[in-house]
Amino acid sequence: MSSSPVVPHHIAIVMDGNGRWATRRFLPRLAGHKQGVDSLRRCARACVQRGVSVLTVFAFSSENWNRPADEVSGLMELLAMALAREVPQLRADGVRLHFVGARTGLSAKVVEGLAQAEAATAHNTRLVLNVCFNYGGRWDIAQAAAALAARGEPITEASLHAAMGMAHVPDPDLVIRTGGEMRISNFLLWQAAYSELYFSDRLWPDFDEAALDEAIAAFSSRERRFGKTSEQILSAPASVPG
Ligand code: IPE
Ligand code: IPE
Ligand code: MG
Repeated sequence: MSSSPVVPHHIAIVMDGNGRWATRRFLPRLAGHKQGVDSLRRCARACVQRGVSVLTVFAFSSENWNRPADEVSGLMELLAMALAREVPQLRADGVRLHFVGARTGLSAKVVEGLAQAEAATAHNTRLVLNVCFNYGGRWDIAQAAAALAARGEPITEASLHAAMGMAHVPDPDLVIRTGGEMRISNFLLWQAAYSELYFSDRLWPDFDEAALDEAIAAFSSRERRFGKTSEQILSAPASVPG
């Protein structure tokens, strides 16, 4: 008899492969990004159904500004469009949106859209959806250190963590990267210290419920040791929540 898998509390995803998905179909890269929004909607629903509490996705990195100008402006427009189209349903589905990343460099319209989407979903409790946009792990660590220094506060692991963009959620249990690359590309450098890593060859638009279940099953079979020995983990009494 197979036991049901251990569902991660917090899943984080580097949603990579949109451009290749489009290019393989002789479509413009932006068509792949549009399909990526559909894939995110499907993934968020699947996470709600499976009892995942936090989903964090990498949507636009600090380094993605270096792409061709038309792709960057297309991604900004797509964000504004996706907000207008998706927020009412996310609101109804119990999803709470957070945008993590620098606001500098974004247009006033986009910044306003992010704030409105966060406010419209602030009462929701079923799934926290963190969208890392104009985000880099190095940016996050540096801005947290600068904020502490400006307030004259000591820099410790706890104070840095509290000043970072993901302070409102526990660290990710599982980090998935789609698209076949095996690198972190400046995502959650601090928070992924003890995350289980899972790499999928599927391009992000093709990452469906079955692919998510495969990732959860792989996570379920890992032994998380947090620096201890396997014997210590196996002999520890099961932790009681709360
Ligand atoms: C990820 O897909 C989305 C963003 C980085 C905005 P890519 O656009 O990187 O897709 P590939 O890697 O070129 O296929
Ligand atoms: C990482 O993908 C960023 C996002 C998915 C938003 P990239 O496509 O930018 O990563 P690299 O350049 O291949 O490392
Ligand atoms: Mg890529």
